[in-house]
Amino acid sequence: MPDPPDLAQQREEFEREASAASDRAAWEALRLKWLGRKRGIVRGLLSQLGGLPPDERKDFGQAVNRLKNSVEARLEELDASLSARERTASTQSAALDVTLPGRPPRVGTAHPVSLVVREIVEIFAGLGFSVAEGPEVEDDFHNFEALNFPPDHPAREEQDTFFLRDGRLLRTHTSPVQIRTMVDRDPPIRVICPGRVYRKDNDLRHSPMFHQIEGLAVGKGITFGDLKGTLEAFVHRLFSEETGVRLRPSYFPFTEPSAEVDITCPFCSGSGCRVCSDTGWMEILGSGMVNPRVLERCGIDPSVYTGFAFGLGIDRVAMIRFGIPNIRLLFDSDERVLRQVRG
Ligand code: PHE
Repeated sequence: MPDPPDLAQQREEFEREASAASDRAAWEALRLKWLGRKRGIVRGLLSQLGGLPPDERKDFGQAVNRLKNSVEARLEELDASLSARERTASTQSAALDVTLPGRPPRVGTAHPVSLVVREIVEIFAGLGFSVAEGPEVEDDFHNFEALNFPPDHPAREEQDTFFLRDGRLLRTHTSPVQIRTMVDRDPPIRVICPGRVYRKDNDLRHSPMFHQIEGLAVGKGITFGDLKGTLEAFVHRLFSEETGVRLRPSYFPFTEPSAEVDITCPFCSGSGCRVCSDTGWMEILGSGMVNPRVLERCGIDPSVYTGFAFGLGIDRVAMIRFGIPNIRLLFDSDERVLRQVRG
């Protein structure tokens, strides 16, 4: 039996809305609109029953019931297909892709300066040197006076050295550790002293804090030849057998004679490049025979003993070794830089 025309129109409207309901919220709205207990369309139709003449009631009631049943059936069908879709989506999002590569834990690395210190300590250990250390806050005696700095030496000026209010200072080099070692021990002495030092310097190549390694050998019959041989052996181990070593006369109050030590530029092997300003050479350390006055001040008899000393800039070596163009990169603690350098 065909529906009365007004219901056929409702049926069509419902069908249109049902096929457009593509998610849970639309489904819920549809259900409320048609089957809602208070304002649902089906409910509204049923409430019209009472106002109809008795002979029409039966047909109309049956027609509304048919509409109600098909709305319910269609909503159930929609519910089932929405639920199925929801289930697949949630299994897909929870799925584990076992073909993804693992995420390795991020492991720290030793700092480039530490790597170079380790390497240098190892080389000198092979030559019979042991490690000695001293304080970074020093006094005038150990940093200057015992090292034969005259009272008016420029390093003693406020503009070069960090002084503390009590007159002590941040050591400007590792040479005070020489003094502490010679005061404490009798020859023969063979030590290297790595550590931080401080100067009022700040540019591409200088940082107010940097690192040095001091070397000291004191004994009977130690000569300038021993100094040169030791430094050559060291440079050949640290860089390469082919690296050239050149000693240039220089001056330090605590060594006499003194020499600055250059190596052939590791970037161009000595032919000249931007890094070595086209000289083919790079200065890496200061050295000399321990000044007899310094020995004396430390209670060592200079008529019996001689010695040599040298001081090396570690940061410089780290920059050369790892191709780091700016000293600040060593101390900014930028992980991206530090991660590129591995021992
Ligand atoms: N202390 C000197 C400096 O800082 C280096 C040096 C050490 C030179 C030992 C000679 C001997 O420049």
